[in-house]
Amino acid sequence: MEIVIKDNADTASRTAANYIAQLIRRKPNAVLGLATGRTPLPLYRELIRMHQEEGLDFSGVTTFNLDEYVGLSPEHPASYNYFMRTNLFDYVNIPEEQVHLPDGLTSDIPAHCSEYEKKIEKAGGIDLQILGIGSDGHIGFNEPMSSLASRTRIKTLTRDTIKDNACFFSSVEEVPRHVITMGIGTILDSRTCLLLAFGENKAEALAGAVEGPLMAALPASSLQLHPVVKVFCDESAACQCRQTDYYRWVYDNKPQWQQFE
Ligand code: GLP
Repeated sequence: MEIVIKDNADTASRTAANYIAQLIRRKPNAVLGLATGRTPLPLYRELIRMHQEEGLDFSGVTTFNLDEYVGLSPEHPASYNYFMRTNLFDYVNIPEEQVHLPDGLTSDIPAHCSEYEKKIEKAGGIDLQILGIGSDGHIGFNEPMSSLASRTRIKTLTRDTIKDNACFFSSVEEVPRHVITMGIGTILDSRTCLLLAFGENKAEALAGAVEGPLMAALPASSLQLHPVVKVFCDESAACQCRQTDYYRWVYDNKPQWQQFE
């Protein structure tokens, strides 16, 4: 795992965007796994800027989103489908048929989930999966105690996650109890995982994910099993990690061919 600590969310997101842009330039038909939530917003803004000002071309890119709320239509302003359109897809040139999100209105959830897995496989697998982290250590919507081998399926949100996400709805009662999410096994199959974490309320979860024991109680710790994980975080999210001096030392001494700034 490589931990990149920057002064703030904007600089960390710019560095992460450079890393993603390098992949898209190297592999124009890259398959990206996308995340929602507050965390990736500055990253998406920077990718949009790169597209508009530097001509970063998304026309060959295919995307798969991590998750969606059960029962929300793509038009619902709190749906992840709506989030992705208004925060990224409307501003870059990814052809619509190359965009994939779980369907919150599907009438057959298990069949839809296995179809989603098949579509990822058919696309050649995910080259780079963008991830945020929940304050309880979830990735995607894989809440604590999710199987580390899980695949795309329905999950029940914890009360804490419902509270955390209530700000996107008009009341906490409106937050759906159920979601469809890629599993931890699905995420670990990606060739690269890019985890973003900003703010002090992520510090405990991030330290556990990076330095704590591997356990289902902290789903993000499963990333310790993955061979290529890049963590981009700010100082406050990193404040509970014990090895920050070492992470900075490694980053400052990267061989030039491995640099992405
Ligand atoms: C949400 C999403 C996750 C996200 C996490 C953190 O519920 N399903 O993909 O990473 O929780 O959200 P935020 O970035 O808003 O803190």
